[in-house]
Amino acid sequence: MRSAQRSPTVAHMSHDHHHDDTSLGDLLDLDGDVLHDYWADALSWVRREAGSERRQRIVDLGAGTGTGTLHLAHRFADAEVIAVDASAEMLHRIREKALDQGLADRVTTVHADLDEAWPIPGPVDVTWASLSLHHLTDPDRVLRDVHAATRAGGLIAVAEFPIQLRFLPDGTGAELESRLLERLGKYQAERLPELGSDWAARLTAAGFALFEERTFDIDLAPAPPAAADYAALWFGRMRHRLDDLDPADAAALADLLDGDGPGSLHRRDDLRVRGARTVTLARRP
Ligand SMILES: C[S@@+](CC[C@H](N)C(=O)[O-])C[C@H]1O[C@@H](n2cnc3c(N)ncnc32)[C@H](O)[C@@H]1O
Repeated sequence: MRSAQRSPTVAHMSHDHHHDDTSLGDLLDLDGDVLHDYWADALSWVRREAGSERRQRIVDLGAGTGTGTLHLAHRFADAEVIAVDASAEMLHRIREKALDQGLADRVTTVHADLDEAWPIPGPVDVTWASLSLHHLTDPDRVLRDVHAATRAGGLIAVAEFPIQLRFLPDGTGAELESRLLERLGKYQAERLPELGSDWAARLTAAGFALFEERTFDIDLAPAPPAAADYAALWFGRMRHRLDDLDPADAAALADLLDGDGPGSLHRRDDLRVRGARTVTLARRP
């Protein structure tokens, strides 16, 4: 298969990194599963707006476990889809899925830190960047590099979340969830200063012409079966990150995460997944 790794610029991963990548990888897989309709709608839209040339080159920036990569490979027949990520573990998962789905000859993985040099020679027809630009130290530089690599008329789509996902319904935990999300917001604001940026403005500044920004509302009630696993991982990561919680909130969170305990997420049949994703689509003139 052609899914060889190039440019192994990230040489080491600590044990913690490995653990964090595994838990993030599981979370991303669940995101692709639980929010399947959003992913399908968003990437079908990108497909419709892209040209009809047969053999397109597509880049998935910060591809994670490849939900976008694989949706793109299925929608763009004959395209080469290049998944870029700084995590070898994520890329390994993508190669396994591509093999399973018969796409290994068209899905390539590139192991690269986007904070370093731009890793993909042009021309590129479509770039998809989901929940990844806000992790970068200098996303404007990367957007300029994407612009330089994109052929005239080519597309970039940036997917981000305008609001956090929520799992608990009103009246039975939504207030606790609001308090936890407020704390999470502060935690993220300190670590991810690019989160919540005006990506349309930044795409324009990089030389792209804004095509359209679409918000995909998410409201899944009843929640799909995998939502309890998603919620458990999500709240588990919050418990790991947020210290100094109010003791009552810490106890309520522990109940939600108490395996198969009476108040646990896995015992509840009232989970409701709410949120939104925004996709900003722009074209290189
Ligand atoms: C929140 S995940 C999103 C993954 C995927 N795009 C999705 O939406 O499911 C962010 C991804 O960006 C990758 N990433 C973060 N910083 C990066 C960098 N400097 N260079 C390359 N990849 C990076 C992470 O390894 C992770 O896989």
